[in-house]
Amino acid sequence: MKPRDYSLDSLWMPFTANRQFKSAPRMFVAAKDMHFTTDDGRQVLDGTSGLWCVNAGHGRARIIDAIKRQLDTMDYCPPFQIGHPTEFRVADLLRDLAPGDLNHVFFANSGSEAVDTALKIALAYQRARGEGQRTVLVGRERGYHGVGFGGISVGGIPANRKAYGSMLPRVDHLPHTHNLEKNAFSRGQPAWGAHLADELETRIIALHDASNIAAVIVEPAAGSTGVLIPPVGYLQRLRQICDKYGLLLIFDEVITGFGRTGHAFAAETFGVIPDMITFAKGVTNATIPLSGVIVRPDIHDTIVNNAPPGMVELFHGYTYSGHPVATAAAEATLGLYHEEKLFERSRSVAPYFENAVHAFKGLPHVIDVRNYGLMAGIELEPRAGKPGARAFDAFLRCFEKGVLVRVTGDIIALSPPLVISNQQIDQLTGTLAEVLKAID
Ligand SMILES: Cc1ncc(COP(=O)(O)O)c(C=O)c1O
Repeated sequence: MKPRDYSLDSLWMPFTANRQFKSAPRMFVAAKDMHFTTDDGRQVLDGTSGLWCVNAGHGRARIIDAIKRQLDTMDYCPPFQIGHPTEFRVADLLRDLAPGDLNHVFFANSGSEAVDTALKIALAYQRARGEGQRTVLVGRERGYHGVGFGGISVGGIPANRKAYGSMLPRVDHLPHTHNLEKNAFSRGQPAWGAHLADELETRIIALHDASNIAAVIVEPAAGSTGVLIPPVGYLQRLRQICDKYGLLLIFDEVITGFGRTGHAFAAETFGVIPDMITFAKGVTNATIPLSGVIVRPDIHDTIVNNAPPGMVELFHGYTYSGHPVATAAAEATLGLYHEEKLFERSRSVAPYFENAVHAFKGLPHVIDVRNYGLMAGIELEPRAGKPGARAFDAFLRCFEKGVLVRVTGDIIALSPPLVISNQQIDQLTGTLAEVLKAID
C-alpha cells in the first residue's frame, strides 16, 4: 500500500461513523466493471451498484468518452435564460422513457434536490390552478427522500429528522408497509398490505380535508430503509384515492429508476402512473451528478400558462441544472442502457437473483428476505441492546472477503449493477452466507 499523502482529519464524511472509520479506513482507489480496487490492491465485487447508482457497471468507456468530449467542447453553460442542445436531447430521451404522458423534465443535481423540486412544483401547480390552500404534503413512515428540509419533512426516518428542529409545517405520513408477521420471506410483491393505502383517505384526508392537500410522495419500492416492496394493489389504491380527491401522486424513483425493477421506471413495472417522477443516480450511471423531475403535461402547462407572458413561470432552478457535462453523461448512459438492453437484462437475471437471496432463509440470524428485480433486503435479528451491530459486522466481514454490501439498521441491502453475471451473484450471496454463518 502506498503511504498516505493526506490526513484523515479534515474530511467530515457523510452518513458515516467518522471516528470508527478513521480508526480503520476502508478506501477504494479504482473501479472497473463489477469491481472496486482497494488501496491495498484487493478486488471488491460491487453488490450495491455503488450507492444504487452504477447500474451499467463501472468505468464504461462510452460514458467516459462523452464526458471528455463535452469538456473539450463546452465545460459549462448558464442554465437561466440560455440553453444548450444536450439538455434538450436528454429531456426528449427521458420523456420517451417515462410512462404514460409524463413529458416535461426539470433538471437538478441530486436526489434531494429532485425531491424538493417536485414538492415545489406540486405547490406551485395547486396555486396556479386556483387551489393555493392545498399546502399539506403527505409522505410515508420509513420513506427516504434525501436530506433537504423538504425531503426530511416528508421522509420517515427518525434519525434523519430528530436533530433538525422544525421542518415543513404541514406534513403528514402514511404508515409504512413493512410487516414481518404477514409478509416475511415474500418473493416479489407481498400479498398483504394494500389496505394500508386506505389510511390516506380514512385518516389523512379525514383529518386535513382533501381541499388542503397538495401531493403524496412515496418511493414505489423503498430502498434506503431496507428494501420495502409495495404490496400487491397498494400503489393502485394510492393512485385511486389521489384521483378521487385531486391530490398529486409523486413517485420518488431515485433508486428504482433505470432498470432496478426491470423497466426504465418502477411506475411501469407496477403499472401505476404517477403525476411526477423524481430521478437521479442511474441517469448518468453515477459518473456526474444529475437529477430531475418528469411531470405530466397538465402540471407543466398549468404553471407555465398561468404566468404573464415574458415572465419566468417557475422561480426555481440550480446553477448546475442541465449541466452540459452531466447531460452528456446522461445521453451516453441512456444510449448504453438502450443498446445493451440493460433493463431487459435486469428482468432476465432477476429470477436467478431471487432464488439466490431466498436461499438465505434458514441461515443464522435471518428473519426476512424480500426482493424485486435486482434489489433485495436480508433482515437480521438485532443483537440484544445493539441495533445495527450485527449487520454492520456482516458488512465489515464481507468487505474483508471482497464483497461490497450495504447495511441500514439490521438489514443488508443488495442492489448489484444490472450487468452482474450468475457467477457473480453466487459469489455475492455465497460470501454473505459464509459471513452470516460465522458471525455471532
Ligand atoms: C428514494 C430516494 N430519494 C432521494 C434520495 C437522495 O438522493 P441524493 O443523495 O442524491 O440527494 C435517495 C438517495 O438514496 C433516495 O434513495
